[in-house]
Amino acid sequence: SVIQRNADCLAQIDVLSALAAVAESNRYSCPQVEEGNEIVITDGRHPVVEKTEIEGGFVPNDTYLNASDHRLLIITGPNMAGKSTYLRQIALIVLMAQMGSFVPAKEARLGVVDKIFTRIGAADYLSKGQSTFMVEMREVSDILRHATPKSLIILDEVGRGTSTYDGLSIAWAVAEYLHDAPHLKGAHTLFATHYHELTDLAKLKEGVKNLNVAVKEVGDKIVFLRRIVPGSTNRSYGIHVAQLAGVPEEVLLRAKEILHNLEKGEFDVTGVPKFARGRKKTKVPPFQPRLFQDEEELIIEELKHLDIMQLTPLQALEQLYRWQKKLVRI
Ligand SMILES: Nc1ncnc2c1ncn2[C@@H]1O[C@H](COP(=O)(O)OP(=O)(O)OP(=O)(O)O)[C@@H](O)[C@H]1O
Ligand SMILES: [Mg+2]
Repeated sequence: SVIQRNADCLAQIDVLSALAAVAESNRYSCPQVEEGNEIVITDGRHPVVEKTEIEGGFVPNDTYLNASDHRLLIITGPNMAGKSTYLRQIALIVLMAQMGSFVPAKEARLGVVDKIFTRIGAADYLSKGQSTFMVEMREVSDILRHATPKSLIILDEVGRGTSTYDGLSIAWAVAEYLHDAPHLKGAHTLFATHYHELTDLAKLKEGVKNLNVAVKEVGDKIVFLRRIVPGSTNRSYGIHVAQLAGVPEEVLLRAKEILHNLEKGEFDVTGVPKFARGRKKTKVPPFQPRLFQDEEELIIEELKHLDIMQLTPLQALEQLYRWQKKLVRI
């Protein structure tokens, strides 16, 4: 048992000297771990990404979280801007500080968290009968059930594994729950997302703040500044990133065309979404009487089944208006 005890001592010395060596060679600083519930990081860095070859070097960023008006941060910004990196660097700094290491930041002052939850990436476990989205939802469920007011929660693009509306609805409801549920009040959440609608939460909830990753537009190119700034953004520059990745020009042009139409929110009267049209050699689909007939039949069916006695005069008027609008559009 003396040997065992000596081995334990040596193991500890080994770990601590390794942490010290890493701290020394990477300019880490001593974090201040305290009783409160703030997380204040100045010039934080990602310990692994900062070691990779990056043009212009790694850009450090600040973080501020507390248990009241800065407890849920929504992070938007273009693809490739650095959202995931930022989320992970915060989780790593907190983890390193609590395990007794120095941290990759100029300064860090943090209250102790009891658990760090993460929902990151897009893995599946097909052999265990779990699809990508199933895995995502199981992890979210786990977080919502087990987080506490002292937890740190990292959500990277929750909801993206399903259709846009389902995904957005889930993302919104999850964020709202994390903010509102009494048994979670005070938990720190960072939520990176491409659903720009989520940034509206900041207008409705006192604890929500928006952050985005700054980019600069130079002509039709964008420059990634990697700097986290307050506020929201509503562009993803996804097509630009697709171009950087080498997606064929023809596909990119077509995607731009579709984006243009989508942003105008147009739909063809014949039911064909205008976004799928080309701008030049547009081929308008032939007249489709069947479609209109169906619509009229639908209105007649609705009328047949309408329970008039249950309607207020106003509701009846609204219904009439809806039908007329549909018929006029036809
Ligand atoms: N602070 C930073 N300084 C310098 N380079 C960075 C920084 N953050 C991220 N990068 C670089 O940008 C790349 C993309 O970052 P990241 O994956 O975090 O982007 P993202 O915003 O999450 O993109 P997506 O929306 O596509 O998930 C990283 O691999 C890294 O090389
Ligand atoms: Mg990401």
